[in-house]
Amino acid sequence: MKKNSKKFTTTDAGIPVSSDEFSLTVGSDGPILMQDHYLMEQMANFNREMIPDRQPHAKGSGAFGQFEVTKDISAYTKAAMFQPGTKTEVLARFSTVAGESGSPDTWRDVRGFALKFYTSEGNYDMVGNNTPVFFIRDPMKFQHFIHSQKRRADSGLRDNDMQWDFWTQSPESAHQVTILMSDRGIPKSYRHMNGYTSHTYMWINDSGERFWVKYHFKTDQGIECLTQEEGDRITGEDADYHRRDLFNAIKERDYPSWTLKVQIMPFEEAQNYRFNPFDLTKVWPHEDYPLHEVGRLTLNRNPSDFHTEIEQAAFEPSNLVPGIGASPDKMLQARLISYSDAHRARLGVNYKQIPVNRPKSSVHSYSKGGAMRIENVSDPVYAPNSKGGPKADAEKYPEETIWNASGDFIRSAYTLRRDDDDWGQAGTLVRKVMSEEERDRLVSNVIGHLSDGVSEPVLERALEYWRNIDKEIGDRIAKGIENG
Ligand code: NDP
Ligand code: HEM
Repeated sequence: MKKNSKKFTTTDAGIPVSSDEFSLTVGSDGPILMQDHYLMEQMANFNREMIPDRQPHAKGSGAFGQFEVTKDISAYTKAAMFQPGTKTEVLARFSTVAGESGSPDTWRDVRGFALKFYTSEGNYDMVGNNTPVFFIRDPMKFQHFIHSQKRRADSGLRDNDMQWDFWTQSPESAHQVTILMSDRGIPKSYRHMNGYTSHTYMWINDSGERFWVKYHFKTDQGIECLTQEEGDRITGEDADYHRRDLFNAIKERDYPSWTLKVQIMPFEEAQNYRFNPFDLTKVWPHEDYPLHEVGRLTLNRNPSDFHTEIEQAAFEPSNLVPGIGASPDKMLQARLISYSDAHRARLGVNYKQIPVNRPKSSVHSYSKGGAMRIENVSDPVYAPNSKGGPKADAEKYPEETIWNASGDFIRSAYTLRRDDDDWGQAGTLVRKVMSEEERDRLVSNVIGHLSDGVSEPVLERALEYWRNIDKEIGDRIAKGIENG
């Protein structure tokens, strides 16, 4: 609500109040009366203004905009939002992973890249990162991984020893750690980084043909990063550097945009592809699966109430619309459950009725009751019914983003494919993609990180880890640490 001088102050019940400045007292110098319910309301509401932080990704910023399809990709998906020329309203939230809600934007970290598309067939959420891979491939390790990035139990401090202890005993982290320690570990701004689904998803077209896809939102501003020194300096000068940049750019109508490109794998090719195409620690090399342009995401509207529209935003990878489905990626399978559980804990069971989370298409569900429900439920409240309630339309919306699976119940890693190993793609990045200068900065960043509180036996394991990624880089890091 906009406050201006023509409006008079009321309580939250709409009752006009007589003062914004003075509590109700017995005489000018006397005690305050319990009868001052307006003062009580001010104090009580203030004490409840903060809601729990998101567990990971607590510090973030967001904006609204639009996604416009610029190419015809209807041969691959029937999703309404991907049909030629379609424009869809979008909410974006970018974040760091490990820090709390007041932490500096310029700490070295992966960045979240979460999008909510308000499509004509319900909300579609793409909850990705600014990197195409992740640290682990089995959700059993996720909580442990996040604990190792956050704070120790005893001192309450972050601890590089704890991070490398986890990473070096989880060699599948090598690819993501290499990206994290490279220039891309500190983007110049949220506008200057890419976004990736990282996971593989399924698309299905009108004829029922299925495809596996990975999304790449390529920044139209160009990739730009901060060096460790620049990041350290800005951390001290302006903890909200990225938040300020995004808000100001949009305020000044310098609207950031990203071009969405996708890699598409025909359904059957997943069976024998040289990498497991569902392993979240791997990319699909572009020479195998080139990028196809889809459309453009533009952010052009700032929030007007950060708490209501950004803090209360609830993204969930399980918001998948007709034409788009999940894949057998074990990490994705776990995420399909974890996020709605987090939202129920953080925002309450009716979080989808908060305006920023509410679909623009109509909702005809059988959910009812629960704290903070604001939309009336009407009878009948059960299905099947013969009283005119909504009915599932299996002909129009069949269960079709599916695949076959069978086997014994087992706790195990994925079966290895021909080119699957933990070090190969990280090594390719270092040797074939990075320039000499980028490699120098990678070495320097790792030396700096390992020299800050990492002790034996973790340090020796870390040097071995880097030699496994690339012998020369590992030797340079070892030498750098030896020379202090
Ligand atoms: P390409 O040469 O076709 O692609 C290299 C990719 O690396 C580009 O997409 C580039 O992104 C990206 N890149 C450049 N520097 C970094 C960095 N420091 N951190 C992360 N990504 C970076 O090669 P391939 O497809 O054969 O892949 C080779 C390696 O490139 C992979 O092992 C992987 O590490 C990395 N990569 C591959 C991606 C893929 O989907 N195939 C996606 C991203 C990274 P941009 O064009 O936006 O600058
Ligand atoms: C946030 C769980 C992996 C991207 C979160 C949150 C949880 C969570 C509980 C907080 C949600 C909230 O309170 O709003 C998990 C689990 C994972 C996993 C269990 C693996 C098993 C990933 C991966 C990515 C990712 C692989 C990216 C590819 C994000 C983003 C957010 C987030 C972007 C912030 C969303 C926002 O802006 O509100 N995750 N996560 N997560 N996660 Fe994950």
